[in-house]
Amino acid sequence: MARSKIALIGAGQIGGTLAHLAALKELGDIVLFDIAEGTPQGKALDLAESGPVNGFNAALKGANSYADIEGADVIVVTAGVPRKPGMSRDDLLGINLKVMEAVGDGIKKYAPAAFVICITNPLDAMVWALQKSSGLPAKKIVGMAGVLDSARFRYFLSEEFKVSVEDVTAFVLGGHGDDMVPSVRYSTVAGIPLPDLVKMGWTTQERLDSIIDRTRKGGGEIVNLLKTGSAFYAPAAAAIAMAESYLKDKRRVLPCAAKLEGEYGVDNLYVGVPVVIGAGGVEKIVEVKLDLAEQQMFDKSVASVRSLVDACKVINPAFA
Ligand code: APR
Repeated sequence: MARSKIALIGAGQIGGTLAHLAALKELGDIVLFDIAEGTPQGKALDLAESGPVNGFNAALKGANSYADIEGADVIVVTAGVPRKPGMSRDDLLGINLKVMEAVGDGIKKYAPAAFVICITNPLDAMVWALQKSSGLPAKKIVGMAGVLDSARFRYFLSEEFKVSVEDVTAFVLGGHGDDMVPSVRYSTVAGIPLPDLVKMGWTTQERLDSIIDRTRKGGGEIVNLLKTGSAFYAPAAAAIAMAESYLKDKRRVLPCAAKLEGEYGVDNLYVGVPVVIGAGGVEKIVEVKLDLAEQQMFDKSVASVRSLVDACKVINPAFA
């Protein structure tokens, strides 16, 4: 059987880490695409030269032409620019919206059968725009945010409880970062919900609240430490888990930005919800009943995603 083909649009910090993880896991042959000349070629060659040492079988290629992504099975999009001092949210939105138009055209032309994972921020609006510009069916294009947010939550909880990260599960909904809606009822240690762990004296409600706050601000904490960029190891690991679930038809239940068509009372918007990812892409959206506090946080999150999408429609009326 031929190897799968993985195209990474954007060969920056996350793109390079994605290529490294995909090669180490032998998920398929890898094409790194970027508009910067030399960067994708240099990273692809450097990674290929690590192959003999690490013992992986994966072809790696750097590219500046969309023709090289032809026939990709999975595409992960990190192309774009981060917000710089003096730039408004709308400035960033306008720039990255144009990037999503170009990326969508490339995908439509060369890899319309791919499963696409978008990481570019502002995530929920960019994945919405990319679905429009690529014309892909909604179940074949998702945004990566929830796996990262829940991984941060799980890590902080594992530190609090002094147990393995493997035995901590977290359930998050809503937008990325500040808009994240954690459901403490559905987050557990080996199946024991967090409210029960508070009752058992493992932690206090105050400590739990501060862990949730730290999780919401997790991206900013890394930016403040790095000073020259944003997180890339954990975001790349999260997207690889999603790609692997698709390629291996694992049917994992992962929180992703998925297009809602009435689920959770939301229409025609990408919002973070738990989904089943298998060979068909998004095979199921998991809809749970929210309690009052969760519903209020979720509604706030949906409203902020909608305002970003409305801003995209103003910038480019063709998206309306
Ligand atoms: N087409 C292809 N690549 C592009 C384009 C474009 N139109 N515009 C910019 N790029 C490339 C840049 O050349 C750069 O190599 O996208 C890459 C982005 O890489 P980094 O700046 O290192 O950003 P990274 O840390 O990888 O994050 C990428 O993910 O989490 C989000 O907020 C983050 O939106 C950002 C994205």
